[in-house]
Amino acid sequence: MSLVTMREILPYAEEKKIAIPAFNIDTMEITQAILETVEEENCPAIIAVGQAAIKDGKLESLAATVRTLAKDMKTPVVLHLDHGQSVEQVVKALCAGFTSVMIDGSKLSFEDNIAVTQEVVRIANAAGASVEAELGAILGSEDKPFLVRVQDVIDFTAAVKVDALAVGIGNAHGLYKGRPNLDFQRLQEVRDVTDVPLVLHGGSGIPDDMIQTAIEIGIRKINVATEIRMAYVEGLLSGSANGDYYEMVKAGKASVKARAKSKIDLFLRK
Ligand code: 13P
Repeated sequence: MSLVTMREILPYAEEKKIAIPAFNIDTMEITQAILETVEEENCPAIIAVGQAAIKDGKLESLAATVRTLAKDMKTPVVLHLDHGQSVEQVVKALCAGFTSVMIDGSKLSFEDNIAVTQEVVRIANAAGASVEAELGAILGSEDKPFLVRVQDVIDFTAAVKVDALAVGIGNAHGLYKGRPNLDFQRLQEVRDVTDVPLVLHGGSGIPDDMIQTAIEIGIRKINVATEIRMAYVEGLLSGSANGDYYEMVKAGKASVKARAKSKIDLFLRK
């Protein structure tokens, strides 16, 4: 099946009151493991390429890998740019065949975030791709969180039509120190003022009960990067005893598959 956009799968998540996993891929082997898992589990999925992989020069090669492997799959898959940094980067991703892009204007002023998102929506929609924007800041677990403001959600969604909205509710990228401090009341207030599907970044290390609460309130996409990378490294190390490359890769992929399956079970409440 050819790649789809978030517009084809997020309404399904809303109907079923589940969250679609967005897995970041950093290598071809992780990509293979993730796509095998979503196909086996019959789970629609978002395959995200993030800024670390892009800095490592892999925007086009990872996109080509996803496009090639998805062709033989029955499960719908979105190829998504994670935390797009500029209009130029979005254009590059669209040229590489991405069917969905995030523009992260959260470090800009509110007005500039609206302006850059409007520009990205214009370009992405012309290319048939979906768009995710961000309000509030989702930083590292060491940083002070900047929570999404409810009035900003009202004004932003009135000014620009996006397909998904990432919200800062105390979530952070990387592993949390202790139990994360997620503001579910703020999430509920945001849900009450918009129908745009909401996205939870920083999905690694959030306890299962908090993930369930977030989904009950209305989170429809959850991003997981760190746990996937860690699972791959753990697997590689566990398979390294004989120094055989393919033994290691096999163990790495098996470990990624197990972690991805556990997230699918949780997000889709299987
Ligand atoms: P984690 O690395 O914390 O899973 O966050 C992933 C993410 O939000 C990517 O945008």
